[in-house]
Amino acid sequence: MGGREDEFEPSALGTKEHWDATYEQELKIFKESGDAGEIWFGEESMARLIRWIEKQKIPLDSSVLDIGTGNGVLLVELAKSGYTNLTGIDYSLSAVQLSKNVIEKEGLPHVKLQVKDILNPSDELSDFQICIDKGTFDAISLNPENAAEKRKRYVKTLNRVLRPGGFFLITSCNWTREELCKEFSEGFLLLEELPTPTFCFGGRTGNTVTALVFQQKT
Ligand SMILES: C[S@@+](CC[C@H](N)C(=O)[O-])C[C@H]1O[C@@H](n2cnc3c(N)ncnc32)[C@H](O)[C@@H]1O
Repeated sequence: MGGREDEFEPSALGTKEHWDATYEQELKIFKESGDAGEIWFGEESMARLIRWIEKQKIPLDSSVLDIGTGNGVLLVELAKSGYTNLTGIDYSLSAVQLSKNVIEKEGLPHVKLQVKDILNPSDELSDFQICIDKGTFDAISLNPENAAEKRKRYVKTLNRVLRPGGFFLITSCNWTREELCKEFSEGFLLLEELPTPTFCFGGRTGNTVTALVFQQKT
């Protein structure tokens, strides 16, 4: 998912058809081989989020929502770290089927999984202490149909889904820290930037991935 501008070149990665086909294929592979498939931004991206959550000494039964959970592996890691009130949503039925299979295999039946579009969620999706997004806002930003409007709707929904003072942890490869602060300025304050690997090119140093923690304004 490349790009540095306010608007990105639309891409198949922004469509539900793409994710349905991807996870249908990954579900087949999981059933054949037990391989849960791609971990977006790698294992370290999960460890970094969990380290931050653990550092806050947030109670283990705090409600956590993984937005666009994909194969659900982040939820598995959170459950293994002791968190007990976990929900994952994805608008792709095949992603939810895959994550259900992955989570069942790990023997973690209490994790809740739902087919839901974060841009159009039902009212019962509310009052979360923590919302996590790893690659989903990036995907939405690549939608071929009015991505700018969809990004605005995402921020509005997130404000509704999080409880006042709740935390929003986002990992992105499309947006810089400054751009994300602008995108989420409506209702959110930047609390912390989590260190991510840096690269050096042509004498300039940069990050390929941005990981930020926002807190909802009370
Ligand atoms: C780049 S993948 C990341 C998956 C997972 N978070 C991870 O880190 O492996 C983006 C995910 O967002 C989901 N997604 C995209 N738009 C969505 C929406 N509007 N509502 C819910 N899920 C969405 C896709 O189906 C896909 O699972």
